Amino acid sequence: MANLLVLGTQWGDEGKGKIVDLLTPAFEVVARYQGGHNAGHTVWVRGRKIVLHLIPSGILHPGTLCVIGNGLVISPAAFFKETGDLEAQGVAAGPERVAVSRSAHLIMPWHPMTERISEDLRGDKKIGTTCRGIGPAYEDKAARLGVRAGDLADLRVLREKIADNVAAKDPVLRAFGLPALDAEGIYREYAGWAEKLGPYLRDVSELLDERMKLGQSILFEGAQGALLDLDHGTYPYVTSSSSTAGGAATGLGVGPRTIHGVLGITKAYTTRVGSGPFPTELADELGRTIGSRGDEFGATTGRPRRCGWFDAVAVRYACRVNGVDRIALTKPDVLAGLGAIPVCTGYRYKGQVLRSFPAEPWILEEVVPEFRRLPGWPDSLHGAADPDSLPRAFVDYVRVLEDLVETKVAIVSTGVERGETVFIEEELRGIVDPAKVRAAAGV
Ligand code: IMP
Repeated sequence: MANLLVLGTQWGDEGKGKIVDLLTPAFEVVARYQGGHNAGHTVWVRGRKIVLHLIPSGILHPGTLCVIGNGLVISPAAFFKETGDLEAQGVAAGPERVAVSRSAHLIMPWHPMTERISEDLRGDKKIGTTCRGIGPAYEDKAARLGVRAGDLADLRVLREKIADNVAAKDPVLRAFGLPALDAEGIYREYAGWAEKLGPYLRDVSELLDERMKLGQSILFEGAQGALLDLDHGTYPYVTSSSSTAGGAATGLGVGPRTIHGVLGITKAYTTRVGSGPFPTELADELGRTIGSRGDEFGATTGRPRRCGWFDAVAVRYACRVNGVDRIALTKPDVLAGLGAIPVCTGYRYKGQVLRSFPAEPWILEEVVPEFRRLPGWPDSLHGAADPDSLPRAFVDYVRVLEDLVETKVAIVSTGVERGETVFIEEELRGIVDPAKVRAAAGV
């Protein structure tokens, strides 16, 4: 048994969905540990696009149990929309396939409302959130006001918690000219969810422990990316959860020693959605070209993603903070034919060159990236079946990236489909059984 943690090493949208789906056959359980339906994990299967938000990206493999940990915040409406859409496409997503932690917090109707108010109040300092109520739900969790999934089991408790919250939120909403909350209506809505969600609710920590005792393996799935982590990201332009590796232990109730390996998903260039510093951003035609070639539009909100060159300072930092063992490099095909490719190797700040990623956003706003220009590769990587069929210039690009971020690449994704993947066998072996993955990917 070996458990693997898969997470993004940039600002999200690195292509985690494809890689998690691809690796799932080597695991019995896939467990999400943070975030909510702000995430958008895209999986392509034989020309069909499936976007997952809350449900773990292992759901397309029938034998896999998908687990939603206590570290997530759950909108019951979004959860049942997603399970319904999956079922309509012939993917079973009932309680026999999906387990939800009783300790996960619920997104309540007032969360998106207060989020819009706080974003508006920030004016030009707005975070550019997905407006799904994620931040306010985590705020209430920290304020010890939150309603948890397990509270649905006792309608008396649910009614009381809703009343307490409505009393706390109403004065704020009214001050901003919004109508008073209808506590009874909200109670009725959530009492309705109680019946439907009940069969999914589990003690996830205990469930995972039981599965590990049976010798089963778990893939821990991160959402967003390391640079959006509440503690280690570009605060305050971050999400409100712990997307870094440590979040898996707290977000699922497993010990840190149950994480046997960490695979970082890293895009061959950089993207970011929403506000916040982005040293290698290309706010020009080239950036837009990369965006349209890479289909860089938010899978959840449809917003165009900001695009820029690969930032080795940021990725090296993410590899350190998460203990990344190996990298899966995604979307290098998007860069084919662009000519020489700059890679950021350091930041110039007040006459000095910084090699470490600064914690202060105002420093990051002011740094000037130093670039090393690497020869590009003219041809698409589509159809490359093994490392030997990759273009020489691309292989050299990978070697430079590995040196700069001090981590080896084990997987190269050359397209959206499962089969469009090249495995660097000797590197993969350290974290997952290559035979199982190859068979599942059909390569
Ligand atoms: P929130 O998670 O909705 O609070 O948004 C906070 C920040 O995280 C915003 O900049 C969002 O654009 C960003 N964000 C949240 N989820 C994702 C994601 O799945 N991919 C990329 N960015 C995200």
